[in-house]
Amino acid sequence: MTDVRHETTQQAEHSAPVEAWDAIAARYDEHVTPGESELALAGLRLAGVRAGDTFLDVAAGTGGLSLPAARLGAKVLATDWSPRMIDHFTARAAAEDLDAEGRVMDCHRLDIPDDTYDVTGSQFGVMLVPDQAAALREMVRVTKPGGRVLLIAYGDPVAFEALHFFIAAVQAVVPEFEGPAEDEPLLEFQVADPDVLRRRLTDAGLTDVTVDTNHQERIEVRTGRQLWNWCLGGNPIPGALVAGFTDEQREDIVRVLDGMVRERFADTGPAILTAPLNIGVGTK
Ligand SMILES: C[S@@+](CC[C@H](N)C(=O)[O-])C[C@H]1O[C@@H](n2cnc3c(N)ncnc32)[C@H](O)[C@@H]1O
Repeated sequence: MTDVRHETTQQAEHSAPVEAWDAIAARYDEHVTPGESELALAGLRLAGVRAGDTFLDVAAGTGGLSLPAARLGAKVLATDWSPRMIDHFTARAAAEDLDAEGRVMDCHRLDIPDDTYDVTGSQFGVMLVPDQAAALREMVRVTKPGGRVLLIAYGDPVAFEALHFFIAAVQAVVPEFEGPAEDEPLLEFQVADPDVLRRRLTDAGLTDVTVDTNHQERIEVRTGRQLWNWCLGGNPIPGALVAGFTDEQREDIVRVLDGMVRERFADTGPAILTAPLNIGVGTK
């Protein structure tokens, strides 16, 4: 794998179908969502979300951004095209008795009137969709004049440690494995360049656009299996890459990951793997 960044939109053939997201929803909810609160709060602060605001989360998954917004006192609608993701979100919101509702919706065509929300956000969601320009225009359309739009996305994939741990562990077991194909660039990194994100938010009709590059995702793991679950639960791509492997090969990969995690382990705490973030905010 060399450069997985690219700028093109409209790459539907490279994006996972809704069934693939449904299939990983339970793992996502257990292994990914709980670790996202800190970075979500950083984004919500940058977008100025306050108690009493109406907040729309687009491609919300099981609530990595929506749940912290609701805990701040915002009135939240979480939308995602995956019914299973929304089921998990609804269960989490109900368990905490939060003012938050979930609805199944494609981010390219939001079933929401114009000028409805104080703040509209998306964390690792609109980041990866094939027609990002259309999805951003939809986020802007449903936001009130003077309201804010927030987009949290991965930065430079070269510094995405979990991705490189995963690929290195797979290659240790299956030396011919090359990782994601070079001629099929990953949509996940289409706004890894902060200037591209800034331009896309501006092109979508936002003003006063800022892109903060000072925050990181911090993935805390104590075992190789936790990291394996984070990788396979966080996105359908890693699971697709190892789909043809035997159970024995998979267990070997987990063992290699375990060694890598323990090598990183601090004496007193978990291993922390980081990934750079671009947090974009603009005003309608
Ligand atoms: C990496 S997850 C991010 C979930 C959540 N925002 C978070 O921060 O944990 C990407 C989410 O985007 C959703 N998604 C992908 N394409 C979508 C689309 N066209 N419309 C709505 N949701 C979509 C997936 O179902 C998945 O829940």
